Amino acid sequence: MAEEKRKRILSGIQPTGAPTLGNYIGAVRNWALLQNDYDCLYMVADLHALTVRQAPAELRRRTREMAALLLAAGIDPTHHVMFVQSHVPAHCELSWVLACNTQFGELSRMTQFKDKSAKHPDNVNGGLFTYPVLMAADILVYNADLVPVGQDQTQHLEIARDIATRFNGIYGDTFVLPEGYISASGAKIMSLAEPAKKMSKSDTNANGFVLMTDDKDTILRKFKRAVTDSDEVVRFDREAKPGVSNLMVIYSTFTGKTMADIEAEFAGKGYGDFKLAVAEATADALAPVKDEYARILADKSYVDGVLKEGAARAARLADRTVAKVYRKVGLLQLER
Ligand code: TRP
Repeated sequence: MAEEKRKRILSGIQPTGAPTLGNYIGAVRNWALLQNDYDCLYMVADLHALTVRQAPAELRRRTREMAALLLAAGIDPTHHVMFVQSHVPAHCELSWVLACNTQFGELSRMTQFKDKSAKHPDNVNGGLFTYPVLMAADILVYNADLVPVGQDQTQHLEIARDIATRFNGIYGDTFVLPEGYISASGAKIMSLAEPAKKMSKSDTNANGFVLMTDDKDTILRKFKRAVTDSDEVVRFDREAKPGVSNLMVIYSTFTGKTMADIEAEFAGKGYGDFKLAVAEATADALAPVKDEYARILADKSYVDGVLKEGAARAARLADRTVAKVYRKVGLLQLER
């Protein structure tokens, strides 16, 4: 049977903080599922992490940890490509050319830039400003068709499309216009302690997040304390019942049950039963991933070998795009 050309997926995740349940449901788990239907490139976005000050040793460690999590979650580096952003110089090379084709005004309008500038007023650096250009380069350098991203990145995907469209208009057809891929279920997992905020391990309240390394008792305890509301009705309503709805999303992810199934299952029962069920489903689902993660992380040379191979394969694809772009914009190329 002739192999049909599959669409190409690219996505990235920053190696900031210890991997959480939010990273797993919101991104990594979906990435693993997409491998059946697409050619995938998955990257640890360490260069993007530099836009916020990082402790060097910690960034290095987190980068390897994130790679180990991807492998533990089932990313298959033999059939797909997994690598670290900074290991493929083509991203930065393309990023410069794209930056020269991106307007100050459009970058100024990015809501994440505005939010992060407000959050770190002492470090509003150039990288924070050009962050979406590097992200556009990550995507366009591989001519990715689809880009799985969280809600908070849709504006960056939009600008990547704008940059690609503009470039194609000026220099002739060069880039594929990427589409966003927002999965139905795991769009965004919220903090267990403050369900209005995204789950993040930088949360000051440790009960707000579940780490991929948490043991079962810790997971049970954190879910038991999860903030809900006072009406004791398990019903999906993100606006009125953000805490309960977040727990329902988590439960639905791991059991495959619909929101209606879950509402029926817990009708007439209190939140105690519900939280326990969510906690157990989560602990059971995470147990094998957590074990794999520990096993893989202990084998540093395996992880590094995967990353080395991944970077070489990614670079072969990316270098071709950069050469084409350099030629199109008029950079002198010498014969080899
Ligand atoms: N900016 C993304 C985030 O923080 C990570 C990222 C970097 C990315 N480059 C990308 C995601 C390219 C998709 C495609 O979530």
